[in-house]
Amino acid sequence: MGTSTSEKILVIGSSGQLGTELVQTLRNIYGTENIIASDIKVTEQAKEGPFEVIDVLNAVGLFDIVKKHRVNQVYLLAALLSATAEKMQKFAWELNMNGLFNVLDLAKEKIIQKIYWPSSIAVFGPNTPKENTSQFTIMEPSTVYGITKQAGERWCEYYFNKYNVDVRSLRYPGLIGWKSAPGGGTTDYAVHIFHDALKTGYYECFLSENSTLPMMYMPDAIKATIDIMQADAGKIKIRSSYNLAGFSFSPKEIATEIKKHLPGFKISYKPDTRQQIADSWPRSIDASHATADWGWKPQYNLAAMTTDMIRNLK
Ligand code: SER
Repeated sequence: MGTSTSEKILVIGSSGQLGTELVQTLRNIYGTENIIASDIKVTEQAKEGPFEVIDVLNAVGLFDIVKKHRVNQVYLLAALLSATAEKMQKFAWELNMNGLFNVLDLAKEKIIQKIYWPSSIAVFGPNTPKENTSQFTIMEPSTVYGITKQAGERWCEYYFNKYNVDVRSLRYPGLIGWKSAPGGGTTDYAVHIFHDALKTGYYECFLSENSTLPMMYMPDAIKATIDIMQADAGKIKIRSSYNLAGFSFSPKEIATEIKKHLPGFKISYKPDTRQQIADSWPRSIDASHATADWGWKPQYNLAAMTTDMIRNLK
């Protein structure tokens, strides 16, 4: 693919579940040399193209890297996810909020032109209607992670309205992919289950069998991210964060689907503290604003995702 743009993109938190795949896709689109991967420590990714060690809480260090590479876009993926944030509450607040401020302020000062920042279904809470949850509804998150994402959404919209900062955001559901491992989330089981099914034929699930949650296959998540970032600014009507939907399933339903490929697969359920987090989130999401505003449409359902995951992990 071509490299006929002047984009210089910095991906912060590039070695995580989403970043690993996003960096590959961005490099295919914009050219390896135009995508600067960065994480809190050196990872294998450093062998594949430009890489910097960045602590997003160090505003001066971040500024230096942005200047050094003439960065004009930042994808800020560094954050603590839902389960880890419950264990490290104050640090989660510090990282998820001050990391965002450091990047928003670069755009406020017109040092960078565009920001991508992920939000989550965790912005919703126990009082939110759970089925086909709409874009604009009750939002009373009951997790530390959800509180940071909800506050972050408000700040993104504020910076857009006050300072004309071009920030774009998606409320991801649980993300499932085979190229990289998730870390510290409540929806992580939906990745672990595939690895254990293929390795040992057995998985002990940390959520109960009927805990239905919104999920998405990674190729759809990557496509949505690129689509919203490439859309004309005028089409981005929502500057907090867009609802995004793939498909929903429970642990029992994904186990049934896996059994179609691996008939001997067995699952048991031992809910832990993550159950409470899952219980506070919607079961399905209405993404009609994303569809209407910039043409969102997912490609994968549970069956297609399961087939693809097993084929690739084998
Ligand atoms: N997948 C995330 C988590 O479980 C939700 O955004 O924390």
